[in-house]
Amino acid sequence: MPHRHLIAGNWKMNGVKASLAVAEVIATQSRSHSARVALFPPATLLPLMADILKGTDIILGGQDCHHADSGAYTGDISAAMLKDAGASMVILGHSERRHGHLEPCALVARKVQAALRAGLEPIICIGETLDQRQGGLTIPVLSRQLADSLPEELKGREFQVSYEPVWAIGTGLIASDAQILEAFALIRRYLDQRFGAHVAPHLLYGGSVKATNAGQVLALEGVSGALVGGASLTAEDFMPIIAAAD
Ligand code: G3H
Repeated sequence: MPHRHLIAGNWKMNGVKASLAVAEVIATQSRSHSARVALFPPATLLPLMADILKGTDIILGGQDCHHADSGAYTGDISAAMLKDAGASMVILGHSERRHGHLEPCALVARKVQAALRAGLEPIICIGETLDQRQGGLTIPVLSRQLADSLPEELKGREFQVSYEPVWAIGTGLIASDAQILEAFALIRRYLDQRFGAHVAPHLLYGGSVKATNAGQVLALEGVSGALVGGASLTAEDFMPIIAAAD
């Protein structure tokens, strides 16, 4: 069976009830395309969006979860709560969590464990900053993030990895084909060595993916899909990216 790209829309801290209309359009129009589509709305919209997506193939996910299953953690959301609200995936280690909330790799690894305990499929994000890239540190940074964010008990196919160069997120600056291929080669080598090539996880790219560049990114060797931020907020922007995976 040919591989189906995953086109994942991370709404970040955007979206209120009125935005559910966007999910309805995406759900209807996605039917005629081959990609697997996933939406990661803010947690407040999860149960409502789950109702809208019932009976469709669209996957619903959370944007983060706590490392503990429950407890006195004001303002946090557990993986089990995401699952209960209708999610089947969760984004972990996004650079906006790593940098904005100072989340170290070891915490990301604990969150991955929590997600798996709750039956959620994690998308684990890694990526270098501009300073790290310019300092020639891209390869060691990605290697360390992989080694330290993926807990020991992982077997391979129960999670995905998204390569998101921090300097490409929300900037309109997409990584070049060569930069993506170089990073993917490193990540793929690590994953294949650790898990075995036949069970190693799928690898996504994220960072300023939009209608005009999606086809080129998705056509690159080894790219299993895209994690899309800004361009997933409207059906007009998101549908051409889904169509580019056909
Ligand atoms: O989670 C998505 C990534 O951060 C990419 O965001 O498409 O707005 O650059 P962006």
